[in-house]
Amino acid sequence: MITRITTSSRIAAAFIRNGSLAAFPTETVYGLGADAFNEKAVRKIFIAKGRPSDNPLIVHITSTSEIERLAKRIPATAEKFIATFFPGPLTIILPKRENVSPLITAGLFTVGIRMPGHTVTQKFLHECGTPVVAPSANRSGRPSPTTWQAVKHDLDGRIACILKDDQTEVGLESTVVDCTGSIPIILRAGAVTLEQLRKIIPATRVADHLRHGVRAAKSPGLKYRHYAPKARVAIVSSPEEIPPATASAYIGLAQPVSRHTLKLVRVCRNLSDYAHSLFLFFRQCDEAHVQRIYCQVVPDTGLGLALMDRIMRASQK
Ligand code: TXA
Ligand code: MG
Repeated sequence: MITRITTSSRIAAAFIRNGSLAAFPTETVYGLGADAFNEKAVRKIFIAKGRPSDNPLIVHITSTSEIERLAKRIPATAEKFIATFFPGPLTIILPKRENVSPLITAGLFTVGIRMPGHTVTQKFLHECGTPVVAPSANRSGRPSPTTWQAVKHDLDGRIACILKDDQTEVGLESTVVDCTGSIPIILRAGAVTLEQLRKIIPATRVADHLRHGVRAAKSPGLKYRHYAPKARVAIVSSPEEIPPATASAYIGLAQPVSRHTLKLVRVCRNLSDYAHSLFLFFRQCDEAHVQRIYCQVVPDTGLGLALMDRIMRASQK
């Protein structure tokens, strides 16, 4: 298959309507889209990515009126989050309607719904004229793509189209919040922070796996999904802790005093810049044959919770 690379959202949307796969930008990471109401198309996603079929997909929408086609009911907690954070980098888990394919939900009775905020994404989704399921557009296990070139690297020849745009703004995947119970639970940390969600619903909490993942850094029994580069990822509290070694790289907020043998260095301006840069840096390290990537730790508050979650998972190999 020849992958068409285009800047036209109209062309990319035509592939979705024809039952093919098209990758597209969002404010978080690039997604790999298929028509949510075409099972044959949805099945192609798992093949193209090499994704295990027990991992459910997020449905992307452009208008809140579409939620009723997908969700059986919208609890009051979800209503409040939707009113505040849609469109944006937040995915809400709701009880699903019967017409939502079990392929999308991995057999669960719930469905993840997100309305992206990026203008290009909204235009593309609008032209698709149907809800679009989309996981991150990477080969399974690899870091999520934040550039169209990263999508091409992973999926060229395996998908019909890539809608080409700039590097994504946030750089980490959306916050996933389960709104099916009385207390909203964050299943995946992201750009919409725990603190922001608590301003709307103070009882909101973080799933245990996330807390323990961040806090119990070296606990061996815990299972993580990987967002992993080929290099080994290690966490340091300051760049001065990095042992001199060839083929190492560093990303963090503090400037290393001496760059000794570091092959690649990325000093980030602030937390948002760190999040924005992390996955691309991982991929650049792979291309430069870096063997060890040192990531500077940040406090697990605000965006730091999502950032540390991704770094922790990448470090568990
Ligand atoms: O920012 C994002 O969310 C990107 C862009 C493309 O929108 N998408 C993305 O999709 O990261 P993916 O498939 O890589 O991650 C989806 C996450 C997975 O952790 C999945 O387990 C969870 O959302 N998820 C989806 N539906 C779910 C459900 N019904 N219940 C629980 N978790 C769900
Ligand atoms: Mg993913």
